[in-house]
Amino acid sequence: MQTLLKLLSDGSFHSGEELGAALGISRSAVWKRLQNLEAEFGLPIQSVRGRGYRLAESLIAIDFDRVYAPWPVDVLFSVDSTNAEVMRRLDAGVGTPFGIIAERQTAGRGRRGRSWVSPFGTNLYYTLGISVRGGPKELEGLSLVVGLAVVRAIQSLGIAAAGLKWPNDVLLNGKKLAGILLELTGDPADLCSVAIGIGINVNMRSADGIDQPWTSLRDALGRPVDRNQLLTALNKELEWHLARHREQGFAASQREWESFHLWQGREVRLSTAAKTVVGRAVGIDEQGALLLDVDGVESRYSGGELSLRLSDDS
Ligand code: BTN
Repeated sequence: MQTLLKLLSDGSFHSGEELGAALGISRSAVWKRLQNLEAEFGLPIQSVRGRGYRLAESLIAIDFDRVYAPWPVDVLFSVDSTNAEVMRRLDAGVGTPFGIIAERQTAGRGRRGRSWVSPFGTNLYYTLGISVRGGPKELEGLSLVVGLAVVRAIQSLGIAAAGLKWPNDVLLNGKKLAGILLELTGDPADLCSVAIGIGINVNMRSADGIDQPWTSLRDALGRPVDRNQLLTALNKELEWHLARHREQGFAASQREWESFHLWQGREVRLSTAAKTVVGRAVGIDEQGALLLDVDGVESRYSGGELSLRLSDDS
């Protein structure tokens, strides 16, 4: 299936005969595989008499020869979740750091038990496995630092209005552009490993089952984006920001993070399992906790779901 997709990914027509010869199968077997591709991966195939077959939407496959990566990365055709795969490999003792990228996820995980819609070949589904020694202090603000790296990589493509919503959502024009999910294994008080999962909506144009407003890099730029270029920018930012976090802790990223916070100074509502607080977002502290001014008193919060407080809220 992978070879067939590679052949088709140039967006040109290929005859059944040509595809069959390249794959060493009959023309009718080619036709079956094309149907499979369409059904299983949701990739519409155009078929024109006398010209052959092509992908209705051209697709730039992930090609690691064209990507800068400071750690080994495996590119998978399909996986349940890149986070789940990294956690399995961490538990099996694979050395860190390493990354996993998938062309699609069948059970992509989002925050708060949500799923992450992950169609084939359109977006970025990337998880980096790292080890952290030294207890909770070393983990402080890690997910915020990853958010910073993601937003910087996105801005480097020319999308200056992309920013962050505490703790680590990446938004553009109030819509979700990227999400980050960290999962831990091992002993957080001593040596543990972290799966840093990053999902970026790159070329997705339609999707079922997303329960929040979303957008994509393609929407923002008005053209398809080469995921290899994005990955290179992302790896460079991750390398730099993770090194600074490891060497200097989160405090070194605090002000920079605040400068990207889209809701800095805005009236917000923070919902935790226990309660909902309404106040003004005044910043974050050295551990990455949110600082809210609630009726003139500054309070810090380390968890919860943030939403904008509408002006007619009471
Ligand atoms: C969120 O809900 O905002 C976090 C979404 C994180 C999605 C990414 S996609 C790559 C990695 N693998 C997963 O299963 N989830 C993360």
